[in-house]
Amino acid sequence: MKIIMLGAPGAGKGTQAKMIAEKYGVPHVSTGDIFRANIKDGTQLGMEAKKYMDQGLLVPDELTVKILLDRVAKEDCKRGYVLDGFPRTIPQAEVLDKALTELGDKIDYAIDVDVPDENIVRRMGGRRACLSCGATYHIEHIPPKAEGICDACGKELVLRDDDKPETVQNRLSVYHEQTQPLIDFYGAKGVLKTVDGTKDMKDVFGAIVDILEGAV
Ligand code: AP5
Ligand code: MG
Repeated sequence: MKIIMLGAPGAGKGTQAKMIAEKYGVPHVSTGDIFRANIKDGTQLGMEAKKYMDQGLLVPDELTVKILLDRVAKEDCKRGYVLDGFPRTIPQAEVLDKALTELGDKIDYAIDVDVPDENIVRRMGGRRACLSCGATYHIEHIPPKAEGICDACGKELVLRDDDKPETVQNRLSVYHEQTQPLIDFYGAKGVLKTVDGTKDMKDVFGAIVDILEGAV
């Protein structure tokens, strides 16, 4: 099962991708998480990516595509994967498409988690992230058991640098310009499914499971 999560920044792609990965036993592959892990480790890639991420801009395709193709070529991705945050531009989607076609393979579902811009800005300000294990929380909707501490690994939770309000606006503009066209791209391939991302996260997940299990 090969799934792509589409949706604006903060729509809940990561939240849902983790739940799908756990239920179906496939890896959750997030390019944002890969970049953040590299920033934390101070790698060359991390330093390069941070310049773009802190401004709410996309990391150039040349850097992003190779990382993603290397990741999905690993053994644990043979049975499938959930891609979260990739592709984000038409050229990225075309490269992925070509790589899969060469393997006689294809994407099964592109799931668009649909949330209007107004809701996004509120959500991002309340998000807290663990830069150590990648878990995310929301101070109102999904609070950690102890304030400021990750339930999963006990490390400190932070407001991501790119979740500051002015950067969120930039990320939304970049999304509308460069990423939203992917909705038509996957629609034309007949694999697009849309879920209402404004619902409670369990209801959003229920709608996704219905799609994956063929009920919708
Ligand atoms: P990335 O990490 O992918 O960030 P993003 O797309 O901006 O998305 P987010 O992770 O912010 O949101 P999400 O949809 O995962 O929402 P979440 O589940 O956390 O990318 C970061 C940066 O890296 C990019 O800006 C770019 O610079 C670079 N990058 C990454 N991939 C790239 C690529 N392919 N090409 C180029 N550059 C790339 O949920 C958000 C909040 O809402 C959380 O607090 C959550 O708890 C809460 N929440 C979730 N669901 C619900 C719900 N149903 N109701 C209420 N609250 C909810
Ligand atoms: Mg995410």
